[in-house]
Amino acid sequence: MMDALDLMLGRRSALAQTLTEPGPDDRLLARILRAATRVPDHGKLAPWRIQILRKPGQARLGALCAELFAAANPGANDKQIAFERQRPQRAPLLLAVTAKLRPGHKIPEHEQLLSGGAVCQSLLLAAEAAGFAGQWLTEWPAYRAEVVRALGHDPAVDRMLGFVYLGSRSEPAAERWRPDLAEVVGEWTGPVETAAMGWTPPAGALNGD
Ligand SMILES: Cc1cc2nc3c(=O)[nH]c(=O)nc-3n(C[C@H](O)[C@H](O)[C@H](O)COP(=O)(O)O)c2cc1C
Repeated sequence: MMDALDLMLGRRSALAQTLTEPGPDDRLLARILRAATRVPDHGKLAPWRIQILRKPGQARLGALCAELFAAANPGANDKQIAFERQRPQRAPLLLAVTAKLRPGHKIPEHEQLLSGGAVCQSLLLAAEAAGFAGQWLTEWPAYRAEVVRALGHDPAVDRMLGFVYLGSRSEPAAERWRPDLAEVVGEWTGPVETAAMGWTPPAGALNGD
C-alpha cells in the first residue's frame, strides 16, 4: 500500500482537458472536502470558500466566459468563443476556491491567502489519495471582477485562488521538472552564514532507503 509520503512524492497534476468521468461521488467528494479544509488557519477565520460546479454550473460559468471573452475580443471567431464556453466544462467537477479576506484583521491578509493556498493544494492531494486527479488553474477568468461577482463574491475584497478541476486520469502523468533541493533548501546557522545556500540530503533520503 502506498503511504502518504509516497503519494506526495509522486503527485502530479493532470491537464484539465484530459480529466474524464467519473469524478468523485458525493460521499468521496465530502471526504476530499473535509480533508482539504483541514488546513492551518491562523485565528480560525476559515477565510476561504469552495463552490462545487457540476455540469449545469459549469455551463453557466462557460456562458459567462464566452460572453466576457467576446466583449473583450470583438474580432474573436466562433471557434475561439466556443473554446471559452467550454473552458469551465473540461472536467467532471470544477471547484471554485475563493479567499474571503478580512482586511484590517489582526491576522495579516497574506496569512489568510496562504491558508487558502493550502486548501487548493490539499484538494489536489486528497483527490489523488482518493484515486482521482486534478489541476489547479487560475487563467483569465479568476482575474475578472464579473466572474468573482457572478460567483457571489466581492471583487473589491475577495480573491479567486483558483479553479480546481477534478476527475479521472485518462493518461499517465509524465514526470515534471522539479528544482534541485540544494537550490531551494539551505541550512541557516546564524547571520554571518546567510549567504550560504545549498543542502545535501542524507544519502538514501530520496530513494526510499
Ligand atoms: C495559483 C496557481 C495558478 C495556476 N494557474 C495556471 C494557469 O492559469 N494555467 C496553467 O497552465 N497552469 C497554471 N498553474 C499550474 C498548474 O497547476 C500545473 O498543472 C501544475 O503546476 C503542474 O505541476 P504539478 O504536477 O506539480 O501539480 C497554476 C498553479 C498555481 C499554483
